[in-house]
Amino acid sequence: MLKDGEIVAAAQEERFTRKKHDPDYPEQAIAFCLKTAGITAADIDIVAFYDKPWVKFERILETYLSYAPVGIGSFFKALPLWLKDKLWMRDTIQEKLGFEGKVLFPEHHESHAASAFYPSPFQEAAILAVDGVGEWATSSFGVGKDNELKLEYQINFPHSLGLLYSAFTYYTGFKVNSGEYKVMGLATYGEPKYVSQIYESLMDLKEDGSFKLDMRYFNYCAGLTMTSGKFHNLFGGPPRKPESKITQKEMDLARSVQDVTEEVILRMGRHVRKVTGQKKLCMAGGVALNCVANGKLLREGVFDDIWIQPAAGDAGGALGAALLAWHKVEGKPRKVDEKRDLQKGSLLGPVADNDEIERYLSENSIPAKKFQTTGELTSAVAELIAQEKVIGWFHGRMEFGPRALGARSIIGDSRSPKMQSTMNLKIKFRESFRPFAPSVLRDRAPQYFELTAESPYMLLVAPVREERRKEMTEEQKKLFGIDKLNVPRSDLPAITHVDYSARVQTVDGDRNPAYHDLIDKFEKLTGCPVIINTSFNVRGEPIVCRPEEAYLCFMRTNMDYLVLGDFLLDKTQQPELAEDTDWRKEFELD
Ligand SMILES: [Fe+2]
Repeated sequence: MLKDGEIVAAAQEERFTRKKHDPDYPEQAIAFCLKTAGITAADIDIVAFYDKPWVKFERILETYLSYAPVGIGSFFKALPLWLKDKLWMRDTIQEKLGFEGKVLFPEHHESHAASAFYPSPFQEAAILAVDGVGEWATSSFGVGKDNELKLEYQINFPHSLGLLYSAFTYYTGFKVNSGEYKVMGLATYGEPKYVSQIYESLMDLKEDGSFKLDMRYFNYCAGLTMTSGKFHNLFGGPPRKPESKITQKEMDLARSVQDVTEEVILRMGRHVRKVTGQKKLCMAGGVALNCVANGKLLREGVFDDIWIQPAAGDAGGALGAALLAWHKVEGKPRKVDEKRDLQKGSLLGPVADNDEIERYLSENSIPAKKFQTTGELTSAVAELIAQEKVIGWFHGRMEFGPRALGARSIIGDSRSPKMQSTMNLKIKFRESFRPFAPSVLRDRAPQYFELTAESPYMLLVAPVREERRKEMTEEQKKLFGIDKLNVPRSDLPAITHVDYSARVQTVDGDRNPAYHDLIDKFEKLTGCPVIINTSFNVRGEPIVCRPEEAYLCFMRTNMDYLVLGDFLLDKTQQPELAEDTDWRKEFELD
Protein backbone atom coordinates (compact mmCIF):
# COMPACT_ATOMS: atom_id res chain seq x y z
CA MET A 1 0.00 0.00 0.00
CA LEU A 2 1.47 3.29 -1.11
CA LYS A 3 0.01 6.58 0.00
CA ASP A 4 1.27 9.53 -2.04
CA GLY A 5 4.21 7.34 -2.98
CA GLU A 6 5.17 6.49 0.59
CA ILE A 7 5.21 2.81 1.59
CA VAL A 8 2.64 2.60 4.39
CA ALA A 9 1.86 -1.11 4.68
CA ALA A 10 3.03 -4.49 3.37
CA ALA A 11 2.38 -8.02 4.59
CA GLN A 12 2.13 -11.53 3.23
CA GLU A 13 -1.13 -13.46 3.41
CA GLU A 14 0.59 -16.50 5.00
CA ARG A 15 1.08 -14.59 8.24
CA PHE A 16 -2.68 -14.09 8.63
CA THR A 17 -3.98 -17.45 7.40
CA ARG A 18 -1.06 -19.35 9.04
CA LYS A 19 -0.61 -21.31 5.79
CA LYS A 20 3.01 -21.08 4.64
CA HIS A 21 3.35 -19.59 1.11
CA ASP A 22 -0.45 -19.32 0.94
CA PRO A 23 -1.15 -18.89 -2.79
CA ASP A 24 -4.78 -17.77 -2.48
CA TYR A 25 -6.23 -14.32 -3.06
CA PRO A 26 -4.72 -12.24 -0.19
CA GLU A 27 -7.95 -11.16 1.42
CA GLN A 28 -6.63 -10.54 4.93
CA ALA A 29 -3.42 -8.86 3.80
CA ILE A 30 -5.48 -6.46 1.70
CA ALA A 31 -7.83 -5.75 4.60
CA PHE A 32 -4.81 -4.99 6.79
CA CYS A 33 -3.34 -2.62 4.18
CA LEU A 34 -6.62 -0.74 3.79
CA LYS A 35 -7.04 -0.46 7.54
CA THR A 36 -3.51 0.82 8.05
CA ALA A 37 -3.95 3.46 5.35
CA GLY A 38 -7.32 4.35 6.87
CA ILE A 39 -9.20 3.98 3.58
CA THR A 40 -11.63 1.72 1.77
CA ALA A 41 -11.31 0.12 -1.66
CA ALA A 42 -13.26 3.05 -3.13
CA ASP A 43 -10.35 5.37 -2.26
CA ILE A 44 -7.78 3.34 -4.19
CA ASP A 45 -6.52 4.96 -7.39
CA ILE A 46 -4.59 2.09 -8.95
CA VAL A 47 -4.14 -1.60 -8.25
CA ALA A 48 -0.99 -3.24 -9.60
CA PHE A 49 -0.40 -6.99 -9.87
CA TYR A 50 3.19 -8.23 -9.95
CA ASP A 51 3.22 -10.11 -13.27
CA LYS A 52 1.42 -10.72 -16.54
CA PRO A 53 -0.68 -13.85 -16.16
CA TRP A 54 -1.40 -14.21 -19.88
CA VAL A 55 2.25 -14.05 -20.88
CA LYS A 56 3.11 -16.52 -18.14
CA PHE A 57 0.41 -18.86 -19.40
CA GLU A 58 1.75 -18.49 -22.93
CA ARG A 59 5.18 -19.54 -21.67
CA ILE A 60 3.70 -22.57 -19.97
CA LEU A 61 1.72 -23.52 -23.08
CA GLU A 62 4.68 -23.07 -25.41
CA THR A 63 6.94 -25.07 -23.15
CA TYR A 64 4.51 -27.96 -22.92
CA LEU A 65 3.95 -27.90 -26.67
CA SER A 66 7.63 -28.11 -27.41
CA TYR A 67 7.96 -31.16 -25.15
CA ALA A 68 4.66 -32.82 -26.13
CA PRO A 69 3.54 -35.52 -25.78
CA VAL A 70 5.90 -35.77 -22.80
CA GLY A 71 4.41 -33.86 -19.90
CA ILE A 72 0.84 -33.95 -21.06
CA GLY A 73 -0.17 -35.38 -17.67
CA SER A 74 1.22 -32.51 -15.65
CA PHE A 75 -0.12 -30.05 -18.22
CA PHE A 76 -3.67 -31.23 -17.66
CA LYS A 77 -3.04 -31.04 -13.94
CA ALA A 78 -2.05 -27.38 -14.15
CA LEU A 79 -4.63 -26.32 -16.71
CA PRO A 80 -7.84 -26.11 -14.62
CA LEU A 81 -6.30 -23.70 -12.11
CA TRP A 82 -5.18 -21.40 -14.90
CA LEU A 83 -8.50 -21.48 -16.74
CA LYS A 84 -10.55 -21.06 -13.61
CA ASP A 85 -8.48 -18.54 -11.72
CA LYS A 86 -5.12 -17.26 -12.70
CA LEU A 87 -5.95 -15.90 -16.16
CA TRP A 88 -8.82 -13.80 -14.90
CA MET A 89 -6.84 -11.88 -12.31
CA ARG A 90 -8.27 -8.51 -13.31
CA ASP A 91 -11.84 -9.79 -12.80
CA THR A 92 -10.92 -11.47 -9.53
CA ILE A 93 -9.32 -8.31 -8.17
CA GLN A 94 -12.16 -6.06 -9.24
CA GLU A 95 -14.81 -8.43 -7.99
CA LYS A 96 -13.31 -9.37 -4.63
CA LEU A 97 -12.09 -5.90 -3.86
CA GLY A 98 -15.19 -4.16 -5.19
CA PHE A 99 -12.88 -1.95 -7.21
CA GLU A 100 -13.62 -0.49 -10.62
CA GLY A 101 -10.48 1.53 -11.32
CA LYS A 102 -7.28 0.88 -13.18
CA VAL A 103 -5.52 -2.48 -12.73
CA LEU A 104 -1.94 -2.70 -14.01
CA PHE A 105 0.11 -5.76 -14.83
CA PRO A 106 3.82 -4.94 -15.07
CA GLU A 107 6.23 -7.73 -15.98
CA HIS A 108 7.47 -10.00 -13.22
CA HIS A 109 11.10 -8.90 -13.48
CA GLU A 110 10.14 -5.27 -13.83
CA SER A 111 8.30 -5.65 -10.50
CA HIS A 112 11.38 -7.23 -8.89
CA ALA A 113 13.61 -4.50 -10.34
CA ALA A 114 11.28 -1.75 -9.12
CA SER A 115 11.18 -3.27 -5.61
CA ALA A 116 14.99 -3.15 -5.61
CA PHE A 117 15.59 0.30 -7.06
CA TYR A 118 12.74 2.59 -5.94
CA PRO A 119 13.06 2.05 -2.15
CA SER A 120 16.89 2.14 -2.34
CA PRO A 121 18.77 5.24 -1.19
CA PHE A 122 20.43 5.65 -4.61
CA GLN A 123 19.57 8.34 -7.13
CA GLU A 124 20.91 6.11 -9.87
CA ALA A 125 22.10 2.52 -9.86
CA ALA A 126 22.41 -0.67 -11.83
CA ILE A 127 19.67 -3.22 -11.13
CA LEU A 128 20.01 -6.98 -11.19
CA ALA A 129 17.04 -9.33 -10.77
CA VAL A 130 17.64 -13.08 -10.53
CA ASP A 131 15.01 -15.68 -9.66
CA GLY A 132 13.41 -18.98 -10.72
CA VAL A 133 11.09 -17.68 -13.41
CA GLY A 134 8.27 -15.20 -13.96
CA GLU A 135 6.86 -14.90 -17.46
CA TRP A 136 10.01 -15.68 -19.47
CA ALA A 137 12.86 -13.83 -17.81
CA THR A 138 14.95 -15.60 -15.18
CA SER A 139 17.74 -12.99 -14.88
CA SER A 140 17.66 -9.42 -16.05
CA PHE A 141 19.57 -6.23 -15.57
CA GLY A 142 19.24 -2.57 -16.35
CA VAL A 143 19.54 0.88 -14.85
CA GLY A 144 17.38 3.00 -12.56
CA LYS A 145 17.71 6.76 -12.52
CA ASP A 146 15.48 9.16 -10.57
CA ASN A 147 11.98 7.87 -11.23
CA GLU A 148 12.91 5.95 -14.37
CA LEU A 149 13.78 2.33 -14.64
CA LYS A 150 14.77 0.32 -17.66
CA LEU A 151 15.68 -3.34 -17.99
CA GLU A 152 17.87 -3.94 -20.99
CA TYR A 153 18.96 -7.52 -20.97
CA GLN A 154 17.51 -10.83 -19.92
CA ILE A 155 18.12 -14.57 -19.80
CA ASN A 156 14.98 -16.53 -20.56
CA PHE A 157 13.35 -19.69 -19.32
CA PRO A 158 14.21 -22.57 -19.15
CA HIS A 159 17.75 -21.31 -18.44
CA SER A 160 17.49 -20.20 -14.84
CA LEU A 161 19.95 -19.84 -11.98
CA GLY A 162 17.08 -20.00 -9.48
CA LEU A 163 15.76 -23.22 -10.96
CA LEU A 164 19.27 -24.74 -11.10
CA TYR A 165 19.55 -24.07 -7.35
CA SER A 166 16.06 -25.45 -6.80
CA ALA A 167 16.98 -28.58 -8.77
CA PHE A 168 19.76 -29.24 -6.26
CA THR A 169 17.40 -28.35 -3.41
CA TYR A 170 15.05 -31.03 -4.70
CA TYR A 171 17.83 -33.55 -5.33
CA THR A 172 19.29 -33.13 -1.85
CA GLY A 173 15.84 -33.85 -0.37
CA PHE A 174 14.48 -30.41 0.54
CA LYS A 175 11.39 -28.54 -0.51
CA VAL A 176 11.65 -26.45 -3.66
CA ASN A 177 10.95 -22.74 -3.13
CA SER A 178 11.48 -22.91 0.61
CA GLY A 179 14.34 -25.26 1.47
CA GLU A 180 16.95 -23.33 -0.55
CA TYR A 181 18.35 -21.68 2.58
CA LYS A 182 19.08 -25.16 3.94
CA VAL A 183 21.21 -25.97 0.92
CA MET A 184 23.10 -22.73 1.50
CA GLY A 185 23.67 -23.69 5.16
CA LEU A 186 24.69 -27.23 4.28
CA ALA A 187 27.21 -26.02 1.69
CA THR A 188 29.65 -24.99 4.43
CA TYR A 189 30.32 -28.63 5.37
CA GLY A 190 30.92 -29.84 1.83
CA GLU A 191 33.70 -29.92 -0.73
CA PRO A 192 33.06 -28.48 -4.20
CA LYS A 193 33.50 -31.92 -5.70
CA TYR A 194 30.82 -31.64 -8.34
CA VAL A 195 31.57 -28.16 -9.68
CA SER A 196 33.34 -29.45 -12.79
CA GLN A 197 30.48 -31.84 -13.51
CA ILE A 198 28.01 -28.97 -13.28
CA TYR A 199 30.01 -26.90 -15.77
CA GLU A 200 30.78 -29.80 -18.07
CA SER A 201 27.34 -31.38 -18.21
CA LEU A 202 24.58 -29.17 -16.81
CA MET A 203 25.57 -25.65 -17.67
CA ASP A 204 27.42 -23.67 -20.31
CA LEU A 205 28.53 -20.54 -18.46
CA LYS A 206 30.02 -17.58 -20.33
CA GLU A 207 32.44 -14.95 -19.07
CA ASP A 208 29.65 -12.34 -18.88
CA GLY A 209 27.55 -14.51 -16.52
CA SER A 210 25.08 -15.60 -19.19
CA PHE A 211 24.49 -19.33 -19.45
CA LYS A 212 22.48 -22.13 -20.94
CA LEU A 213 21.35 -25.28 -19.14
CA ASP A 214 21.31 -28.68 -20.81
CA MET A 215 17.65 -29.46 -20.40
CA ARG A 216 18.12 -33.21 -20.75
CA TYR A 217 19.20 -33.17 -17.09
CA PHE A 218 16.11 -31.37 -15.83
CA ASN A 219 12.46 -32.24 -15.71
CA TYR A 220 10.78 -28.98 -14.73
CA CYS A 221 9.63 -28.10 -18.25
CA ALA A 222 7.44 -31.12 -18.80
CA GLY A 223 7.27 -32.98 -15.53
CA LEU A 224 6.37 -32.54 -11.92
CA THR A 225 9.91 -33.02 -10.62
CA MET A 226 12.97 -30.81 -10.94
CA THR A 227 15.56 -33.33 -12.12
CA SER A 228 15.59 -36.13 -14.70
CA GLY A 229 16.98 -39.68 -14.76
CA LYS A 230 20.04 -38.36 -16.58
CA PHE A 231 20.71 -35.97 -13.66
CA HIS A 232 20.39 -38.85 -11.19
CA ASN A 233 22.80 -40.98 -13.22
CA LEU A 234 25.32 -38.16 -13.35
CA PHE A 235 25.32 -37.73 -9.57
CA GLY A 236 25.08 -41.42 -8.76
CA GLY A 237 21.56 -42.21 -7.60
CA PRO A 238 18.04 -41.01 -6.93
CA PRO A 239 17.25 -37.85 -4.91
CA ARG A 240 17.58 -38.10 -1.11
CA LYS A 241 14.26 -38.90 0.54
CA PRO A 242 13.02 -35.93 2.63
CA GLU A 243 13.85 -36.29 6.35
CA SER A 244 16.21 -39.24 5.72
CA LYS A 245 19.83 -39.09 6.88
CA ILE A 246 22.02 -36.41 5.35
CA THR A 247 25.35 -37.69 4.10
CA GLN A 248 28.61 -36.15 2.90
CA LYS A 249 27.28 -36.42 -0.65
CA GLU A 250 24.46 -33.92 -0.02
CA MET A 251 26.94 -31.56 1.61
CA ASP A 252 29.29 -31.78 -1.37
CA LEU A 253 26.40 -31.24 -3.79
CA ALA A 254 25.22 -28.23 -1.78
CA ARG A 255 28.72 -26.75 -1.72
CA SER A 256 29.10 -27.31 -5.44
CA VAL A 257 25.87 -25.61 -6.49
CA GLN A 258 26.55 -22.79 -4.00
CA ASP A 259 30.03 -22.22 -5.50
CA VAL A 260 28.56 -22.20 -9.01
CA THR A 261 25.86 -19.73 -7.93
CA GLU A 262 28.45 -17.41 -6.42
CA GLU A 263 30.53 -17.58 -9.59
CA VAL A 264 27.52 -16.77 -11.80
CA ILE A 265 26.48 -13.85 -9.59
CA LEU A 266 30.05 -12.49 -9.57
CA ARG A 267 30.33 -12.72 -13.35
CA MET A 268 26.91 -11.13 -13.81
CA GLY A 269 27.85 -8.39 -11.35
CA ARG A 270 31.14 -7.60 -13.12
CA HIS A 271 29.40 -7.56 -16.49
CA VAL A 272 26.58 -5.31 -15.26
CA ARG A 273 29.13 -2.92 -13.78
CA LYS A 274 31.07 -2.80 -17.06
CA VAL A 275 28.07 -2.38 -19.34
CA THR A 276 26.11 0.13 -17.26
CA GLY A 277 29.06 2.03 -15.79
CA GLN A 278 27.06 2.32 -12.56
CA LYS A 279 28.91 2.24 -9.24
CA LYS A 280 25.96 1.09 -7.16
CA LEU A 281 23.78 -1.96 -7.45
CA CYS A 282 20.21 -2.84 -6.43
CA MET A 283 19.15 -6.46 -6.29
CA ALA A 284 15.96 -8.50 -5.98
CA GLY A 285 14.50 -11.86 -7.01
CA GLY A 286 14.63 -15.05 -4.97
CA VAL A 287 18.34 -15.61 -5.70
CA ALA A 288 19.09 -12.25 -4.01
CA LEU A 289 18.21 -13.99 -0.73
CA ASN A 290 21.45 -15.97 -1.13
CA CYS A 291 23.29 -13.85 1.40
CA VAL A 292 26.55 -15.78 1.01
CA ALA A 293 26.70 -14.80 -2.68
CA ASN A 294 25.68 -11.22 -1.81
CA GLY A 295 28.43 -10.95 0.80
CA LYS A 296 30.97 -12.15 -1.73
CA LEU A 297 29.81 -9.67 -4.37
CA LEU A 298 30.23 -6.86 -1.85
CA ARG A 299 33.63 -8.06 -0.57
CA GLU A 300 35.01 -8.46 -4.09
CA GLY A 301 34.35 -4.75 -4.53
CA VAL A 302 32.51 -5.16 -7.83
CA PHE A 303 30.24 -2.30 -6.75
CA ASP A 304 30.87 0.49 -4.25
CA ASP A 305 27.53 -0.12 -2.58
CA ILE A 306 24.70 -2.65 -2.82
CA TRP A 307 21.08 -2.38 -1.71
CA ILE A 308 18.95 -5.52 -1.67
CA GLN A 309 15.17 -5.54 -1.34
CA PRO A 310 14.44 -7.40 1.96
CA ALA A 311 11.36 -9.03 0.44
CA ALA A 312 13.50 -10.19 -2.47
CA GLY A 313 11.19 -13.10 -3.37
CA ASP A 314 7.88 -12.78 -5.15
CA ALA A 315 6.13 -11.19 -2.15
CA GLY A 316 8.27 -8.11 -2.79
CA GLY A 317 7.01 -8.04 -6.38
CA ALA A 318 3.77 -6.55 -5.10
CA LEU A 319 5.68 -3.63 -3.61
CA GLY A 320 7.63 -3.17 -6.84
CA ALA A 321 4.44 -3.21 -8.92
CA ALA A 322 2.89 -0.51 -6.75
CA LEU A 323 6.03 1.63 -6.97
CA LEU A 324 6.04 1.25 -10.77
CA ALA A 325 2.47 2.51 -10.89
CA TRP A 326 3.45 5.57 -8.86
CA HIS A 327 6.77 6.49 -10.46
CA LYS A 328 6.64 5.10 -13.96
CA VAL A 329 2.96 5.23 -14.88
CA GLU A 330 1.99 8.32 -12.93
CA GLY A 331 5.40 9.90 -13.47
CA LYS A 332 5.77 11.04 -9.87
CA PRO A 333 9.26 12.14 -8.81
CA ARG A 334 11.43 10.21 -6.38
CA LYS A 335 13.44 11.82 -3.58
CA VAL A 336 16.48 10.11 -2.06
CA ASP A 337 19.59 11.20 -0.17
CA GLU A 338 22.06 8.33 -0.94
CA LYS A 339 22.03 7.37 2.76
CA ARG A 340 18.57 6.40 4.03
CA ASP A 341 16.47 3.91 2.14
CA LEU A 342 12.67 4.23 1.92
CA GLN A 343 11.86 0.74 3.21
CA LYS A 344 11.42 1.87 6.85
CA GLY A 345 13.39 -1.03 8.25
CA SER A 346 10.83 -3.24 6.45
CA LEU A 347 8.70 -2.87 9.59
CA LEU A 348 5.57 -2.51 7.48
CA GLY A 349 3.25 -5.16 8.89
CA PRO A 350 0.55 -5.20 11.57
CA VAL A 351 1.19 -3.91 15.08
CA ALA A 352 -0.56 -4.74 18.34
CA ASP A 353 -0.50 -1.70 20.62
CA ASN A 354 -0.33 -1.91 24.41
CA ASP A 355 -4.11 -1.43 24.83
CA GLU A 356 -4.87 -4.29 22.49
CA ILE A 357 -2.32 -6.51 24.21
CA GLU A 358 -3.69 -5.63 27.63
CA ARG A 359 -7.20 -6.58 26.51
CA TYR A 360 -5.96 -9.86 25.10
CA LEU A 361 -4.08 -10.69 28.32
CA SER A 362 -6.93 -9.86 30.65
CA GLU A 363 -9.61 -11.58 28.56
CA ASN A 364 -7.53 -14.75 28.68
CA SER A 365 -6.36 -14.35 32.30
CA ILE A 366 -2.72 -14.41 31.26
CA PRO A 367 -0.36 -13.15 33.99
CA ALA A 368 2.06 -10.49 32.80
CA LYS A 369 4.07 -7.58 34.09
CA LYS A 370 3.48 -4.19 32.51
CA PHE A 371 6.33 -1.72 32.18
CA GLN A 372 5.59 2.00 32.24
CA THR A 373 8.08 2.71 29.48
CA THR A 374 9.81 0.71 26.77
CA GLY A 375 13.11 1.80 28.33
CA GLU A 376 12.30 -0.02 31.57
CA LEU A 377 11.26 -3.08 29.60
CA THR A 378 14.52 -3.22 27.61
CA SER A 379 16.57 -2.91 30.84
CA ALA A 380 14.78 -5.93 32.31
CA VAL A 381 15.04 -7.97 29.10
CA ALA A 382 18.76 -7.20 28.65
CA GLU A 383 19.36 -8.74 32.10
CA LEU A 384 17.37 -11.83 31.20
CA ILE A 385 19.40 -12.34 28.02
CA ALA A 386 22.60 -12.09 30.08
CA GLN A 387 21.21 -14.84 32.36
CA GLU A 388 21.00 -17.13 29.29
CA LYS A 389 17.22 -16.98 29.15
CA VAL A 390 15.48 -17.51 25.82
CA ILE A 391 13.02 -14.73 25.03
CA GLY A 392 10.22 -14.32 22.52
CA TRP A 393 10.40 -10.71 21.38
CA PHE A 394 7.14 -9.37 19.89
CA HIS A 395 7.47 -5.61 19.59
CA GLY A 396 6.23 -3.06 17.06
CA ARG A 397 5.22 -3.66 13.46
CA MET A 398 5.82 -7.06 11.87
CA GLU A 399 8.57 -7.39 9.25
CA PHE A 400 7.83 -7.56 5.52
CA GLY A 401 10.04 -10.24 3.94
CA PRO A 402 11.22 -13.65 5.09
CA ARG A 403 13.64 -12.48 7.83
CA ALA A 404 12.81 -11.59 11.42
CA LEU A 405 14.52 -8.27 12.10
CA GLY A 406 13.74 -7.59 15.74
CA ALA A 407 9.95 -7.27 15.69
CA ARG A 408 8.94 -10.96 15.65
CA SER A 409 12.17 -12.56 16.85
CA ILE A 410 13.38 -15.10 19.37
CA ILE A 411 16.47 -13.71 21.06
CA GLY A 412 19.26 -14.98 23.29
CA ASP A 413 22.88 -14.58 24.37
CA SER A 414 25.33 -14.96 21.46
CA ARG A 415 28.22 -15.68 23.87
CA SER A 416 26.63 -18.76 25.36
CA PRO A 417 28.12 -22.05 24.11
CA LYS A 418 24.95 -24.00 24.93
CA MET A 419 22.51 -21.56 23.33
CA GLN A 420 22.76 -23.00 19.86
CA SER A 421 21.57 -26.49 20.72
CA THR A 422 19.10 -25.22 23.37
CA MET A 423 17.34 -22.97 20.89
CA ASN A 424 17.37 -25.48 18.06
CA LEU A 425 16.16 -28.49 19.96
CA LYS A 426 13.95 -27.02 22.66
CA ILE A 427 12.49 -24.05 20.84
CA LYS A 428 12.57 -24.74 17.12
CA PHE A 429 12.37 -28.54 17.39
CA ARG A 430 14.79 -29.12 14.57
CA GLU A 431 18.36 -29.92 13.73
CA SER A 432 20.04 -27.01 12.11
CA PHE A 433 22.91 -26.73 9.68
CA ARG A 434 23.42 -23.07 10.32
CA PRO A 435 24.15 -21.20 13.51
CA PHE A 436 21.77 -18.41 14.45
CA ALA A 437 22.03 -14.95 13.01
CA PRO A 438 23.56 -12.14 15.07
CA SER A 439 21.94 -8.75 15.61
CA VAL A 440 24.77 -6.32 16.26
CA LEU A 441 24.75 -2.58 16.96
CA ARG A 442 25.60 -0.97 13.63
CA ASP A 443 28.46 1.09 15.01
CA ARG A 444 30.04 -1.92 16.68
CA ALA A 445 29.74 -4.30 13.71
CA PRO A 446 33.27 -3.66 12.33
CA GLN A 447 34.77 -4.78 15.66
CA TYR A 448 33.15 -8.18 15.29
CA PHE A 449 32.76 -8.83 11.58
CA GLU A 450 34.70 -8.16 8.40
CA LEU A 451 31.90 -6.02 7.10
CA THR A 452 32.29 -2.57 5.59
CA ALA A 453 28.63 -1.87 4.73
CA GLU A 454 25.58 -1.93 6.95
CA SER A 455 23.31 -4.97 6.71
CA PRO A 456 19.99 -3.87 8.23
CA TYR A 457 17.99 -6.58 6.46
CA MET A 458 20.21 -9.57 7.25
CA LEU A 459 21.07 -10.15 3.61
CA LEU A 460 24.85 -10.23 3.85
CA VAL A 461 27.07 -12.96 5.22
CA ALA A 462 30.41 -11.76 6.56
CA PRO A 463 33.36 -13.45 8.29
CA VAL A 464 33.82 -13.08 12.05
CA ARG A 465 37.01 -11.07 12.64
CA GLU A 466 40.15 -13.13 12.81
CA GLU A 467 41.14 -12.23 16.38
CA ARG A 468 37.80 -13.58 17.65
CA ARG A 469 38.09 -16.97 15.99
CA LYS A 470 38.87 -20.27 17.66
CA GLU A 471 40.83 -23.00 15.89
CA MET A 472 39.44 -26.51 15.93
CA THR A 473 41.56 -29.19 17.59
CA GLU A 474 42.72 -32.18 15.54
CA GLU A 475 40.10 -34.21 17.37
CA GLN A 476 37.30 -31.79 16.50
CA LYS A 477 38.35 -31.64 12.86
CA LYS A 478 37.57 -35.34 12.58
CA LEU A 479 33.92 -34.81 13.52
CA PHE A 480 31.34 -35.50 10.82
CA GLY A 481 29.89 -32.47 9.01
CA ILE A 482 26.97 -31.19 11.05
CA ASP A 483 28.47 -32.39 14.34
CA LYS A 484 31.04 -29.63 13.92
CA LEU A 485 28.32 -27.03 14.42
CA ASN A 486 28.47 -27.40 18.18
CA VAL A 487 32.21 -26.78 18.32
CA PRO A 488 32.70 -23.13 19.41
CA ARG A 489 34.35 -21.28 16.52
CA SER A 490 34.70 -17.87 18.13
CA ASP A 491 33.99 -15.94 21.32
CA LEU A 492 30.41 -15.71 19.98
CA PRO A 493 29.83 -19.44 19.42
CA ALA A 494 26.06 -19.28 18.90
CA ILE A 495 26.33 -17.16 15.79
CA THR A 496 29.58 -18.34 14.17
CA HIS A 497 29.38 -20.94 11.41
CA VAL A 498 32.02 -23.68 11.00
CA ASP A 499 33.72 -21.57 8.30
CA TYR A 500 33.71 -18.52 10.65
CA SER A 501 30.93 -16.82 8.71
CA ALA A 502 27.86 -15.10 10.17
CA ARG A 503 24.63 -13.83 8.65
CA VAL A 504 24.76 -10.36 10.09
CA GLN A 505 21.95 -7.94 10.89
CA THR A 506 23.21 -4.47 11.81
CA VAL A 507 20.80 -2.62 14.08
CA ASP A 508 20.45 1.16 14.24
CA GLY A 509 18.28 3.48 16.28
CA ASP A 510 16.52 5.02 13.28
CA ARG A 511 14.92 1.89 11.94
CA ASN A 512 14.14 0.05 15.15
CA PRO A 513 14.70 2.18 18.29
CA ALA A 514 13.39 -0.35 20.86
CA TYR A 515 15.49 -3.22 19.51
CA HIS A 516 18.54 -0.97 19.27
CA ASP A 517 18.03 0.17 22.85
CA LEU A 518 17.77 -3.45 24.01
CA ILE A 519 21.10 -4.46 22.45
CA ASP A 520 22.68 -1.23 23.67
CA LYS A 521 21.67 -2.13 27.23
CA PHE A 522 22.89 -5.67 26.79
CA GLU A 523 26.26 -4.24 25.79
CA LYS A 524 26.39 -1.93 28.81
CA LEU A 525 25.68 -4.92 31.02
CA THR A 526 28.02 -7.44 29.43
CA GLY A 527 30.40 -5.56 27.13
CA CYS A 528 28.97 -7.46 24.16
CA PRO A 529 26.84 -5.67 21.51
CA VAL A 530 25.70 -8.86 19.79
CA ILE A 531 22.62 -11.00 20.48
CA ILE A 532 21.06 -13.99 18.73
CA ASN A 533 18.11 -13.23 16.47
CA THR A 534 16.04 -16.04 15.03
CA SER A 535 12.54 -15.90 13.61
CA PHE A 536 9.59 -16.18 16.02
CA ASN A 537 8.09 -19.51 14.95
CA VAL A 538 8.68 -23.23 15.23
CA ARG A 539 10.01 -25.22 12.29
CA GLY A 540 7.84 -24.96 9.20
CA GLU A 541 5.41 -22.44 10.71
CA PRO A 542 4.92 -18.91 9.26
CA ILE A 543 6.42 -16.26 11.56
CA VAL A 544 3.93 -15.18 14.26
CA CYS A 545 1.77 -12.17 13.44
CA ARG A 546 -0.69 -11.54 16.31
CA PRO A 547 -0.18 -11.70 20.11
CA GLU A 548 -2.21 -14.91 20.37
CA GLU A 549 0.14 -16.72 17.95
CA ALA A 550 3.15 -15.43 19.84
CA TYR A 551 1.65 -16.67 23.12
CA LEU A 552 0.85 -20.08 21.68
CA CYS A 553 4.37 -20.46 20.27
CA PHE A 554 5.80 -19.33 23.63
CA MET A 555 3.73 -21.90 25.52
CA ARG A 556 4.36 -24.76 23.13
CA THR A 557 8.13 -24.36 23.29
CA ASN A 558 10.73 -23.99 26.02
CA MET A 559 11.05 -20.24 25.77
CA ASP A 560 11.56 -18.69 29.22
CA TYR A 561 10.01 -15.26 28.71
CA LEU A 562 7.74 -13.53 26.25
CA VAL A 563 7.69 -9.83 25.47
CA LEU A 564 4.40 -8.54 24.05
CA GLY A 565 4.68 -4.81 23.47
CA ASP A 566 5.66 -3.38 26.87
CA PHE A 567 4.47 -6.49 28.74
CA LEU A 568 6.72 -9.25 30.00
CA LEU A 569 5.44 -12.78 30.57
CA ASP A 570 7.29 -15.29 32.73
CA LYS A 571 6.85 -18.93 31.72
CA THR A 572 6.91 -20.16 35.32
CA GLN A 573 3.82 -18.06 36.10
CA GLN A 574 1.70 -19.27 33.19
CA PRO A 575 -1.21 -21.68 33.59
CA GLU A 576 -0.82 -24.95 31.74
CA LEU A 577 -1.73 -24.85 28.06
CA ALA A 578 -4.77 -26.93 27.17
CA GLU A 579 -4.41 -28.12 23.59
CA ASP A 580 -6.27 -30.47 21.37
CA THR A 581 -4.08 -30.44 18.26
CA ASP A 582 -0.76 -32.09 17.56
CA TRP A 583 0.89 -28.97 16.26
CA ARG A 584 4.12 -30.78 15.45
CA LYS A 585 2.24 -32.43 12.60
CA GLU A 586 0.57 -29.19 11.59
CA PHE A 587 3.68 -27.71 10.02
CA GLU A 588 5.69 -29.53 7.38
CA LEU A 589 9.47 -29.36 7.12
CA ASP A 590 11.04 -27.41 4.25
FE1 LIG B 1 10.27 -13.95 -9.00
